[in-house]
Amino acid sequence: FSDGPLKGRHALVTSGPTHEPIDPVRYIANRSSGTQGTAIAAALRDLGARVTFVTGPADTSPPAGIDVVQVETAQQMLNAVTAALPADVAVMAAAVADWRVENAGDRKMKKDGSATAPALTFAENPDILATVSKAATRPKLVVGFAAETDDVIANATAKRLRKGCDWIVANDVSPGTGIMGGTENAVTLITDTGAEDWPRLTKTETARRLADRIARHLT
Ligand code: C5P
Repeated sequence: FSDGPLKGRHALVTSGPTHEPIDPVRYIANRSSGTQGTAIAAALRDLGARVTFVTGPADTSPPAGIDVVQVETAQQMLNAVTAALPADVAVMAAAVADWRVENAGDRKMKKDGSATAPALTFAENPDILATVSKAATRPKLVVGFAAETDDVIANATAKRLRKGCDWIVANDVSPGTGIMGGTENAVTLITDTGAEDWPRLTKTETARRLADRIARHLT
């Protein structure tokens, strides 16, 4: 590991979407590309941290020099995250599906010639961020994300309290911002002392700023 302010520290980062199967060939997913989470893992590595990177099926390849755990579903992500604790800091940037298909099939669903469309029923997925925030082995610093389209700061501030994390990185992912899947981000960092708007930066620069902030907090 490089010599930096996070040398000797363990950082856990989640990233990417989750895929929730409908049957063996179909799934429900979301538009997360994994770009921001990947950049955060690389920035923490560059400050000397040992990084465990738990990623769903993302568009970006994971950075070199870190421990990568590839998962598909939210339940697999929770298991991988729990297995990776303890950590000094957890940054949960994954876009975890809120729901999984409860009646997912073991076999491919077929059109059977009848006019009735199949009905999916859903079960709630575990909240990984809330689980880590309440864990007996809770990292000293737990950072969540909030992708919102309306009332970004109010929703993210409420989310910070509800989930029990220390910081929330909030961003506006409304269509037209180009943020979801794009290379830039404009975030507001919400802590116990208030909300701080950061300028529109590349996701790499946003990640470096966040990693610096984490290093200052832990040292
Ligand atoms: O509730 P919402 O999905 O908006 O919260 C976003 C934050 O919670 C992100 O940090 C995300 O990684 C995390 N999350 C999670 N597990 C879930 C849902 C969200 O860790 N099931």
